[in-house]
Amino acid sequence: MEKKVQKKVDKIHNNGHKYGLQTIVVREFEPEDKIEVQRIFYEGLMEMVPDTAFRGLKHHPESLLLYTAVTVLCSVITMCWWVLGLLPAVVLCGRYFYSRRVIHGHLEHAMSRDMGDLEGFYMNSPDSRLWVAAIEGKVVGVVAAVGQQKSGGAVELQRMCVDRSCRRCGVGVALGRKVLEFAAAHRYSSVVLGTTAYTPAAHQLYQRLGFRCVGVTNGYVTPGARWSLLERIFYRVRHHHYRLDVQK
Ligand SMILES: CC(C)(COP(=O)(O)OP(=O)(O)OC[C@H]1O[C@@H](n2cnc3c(N)ncnc32)[C@H](O)[C@@H]1OP(=O)(O)O)[C@@H](O)C(=O)NCCC(=O)NCCS
Repeated sequence: MEKKVQKKVDKIHNNGHKYGLQTIVVREFEPEDKIEVQRIFYEGLMEMVPDTAFRGLKHHPESLLLYTAVTVLCSVITMCWWVLGLLPAVVLCGRYFYSRRVIHGHLEHAMSRDMGDLEGFYMNSPDSRLWVAAIEGKVVGVVAAVGQQKSGGAVELQRMCVDRSCRRCGVGVALGRKVLEFAAAHRYSSVVLGTTAYTPAAHQLYQRLGFRCVGVTNGYVTPGARWSLLERIFYRVRHHHYRLDVQK
């Protein structure tokens, strides 16, 4: 039985629209949602490109140190001081290019797996599920849960993403709660998830849902990455691990 999650929204949202009183319905995925789910996932993933390339830079002092050392060394060797101005621009272009390449690889990897066969991957087993959030019938968000063991153990929250035009109106919280309900109903001990996002939105959403960060992997290898030398130089991310114990 699907449960309606209702939330009064009194704020002005993106594009200046006032939603006033609106109903966010979180329901199980249906085959006709596939195109919209893939679109939301694709757009959310593409947002990670500038996030990783530019915002991520300040979270990786080791990369900054490497770029600075190479820039200074090149300037000294060539005795061309304009190199000091040129190399940082090359570094930023390199970071953008390789972030885009890795994230495209990640997209292809996801499409060859769960995102290409949403029904088969998530809806045919009692241990996994995919939900969409809809506002006035339009799909505006997606989240998945995948159980790691038959009983007990943890369930992993995956693919959380909300359409850009409907953010900050409670869709993320509604989707997250659905996964928590699923975990409690199936007697999983905890919900776990990982994110490489640097934007505060994802981290604050998970903390708001009650998750706590239990570890960070620096130099995480994104699925689909080729892991060449240039990729290692220009693409470096941290993977934050979050956990919430549901049975307590
Ligand atoms: C992260 C994401 C799912 C949040 O969805 P959302 O529907 O906007 O989230 P909600 O409206 O339910 O917000 C819940 C809380 O999260 C936090 N939050 C959400 N967006 C935020 C932002 N831009 N800045 C700071 N905090 C934010 C706030 O604490 C918010 O509560 P509040 O509005 O009462 O202050 C959405 O921004 C998104 O899809 N981002 C791109 C994809 C992504 O990063 N996915 C997660 C990767 S694992």
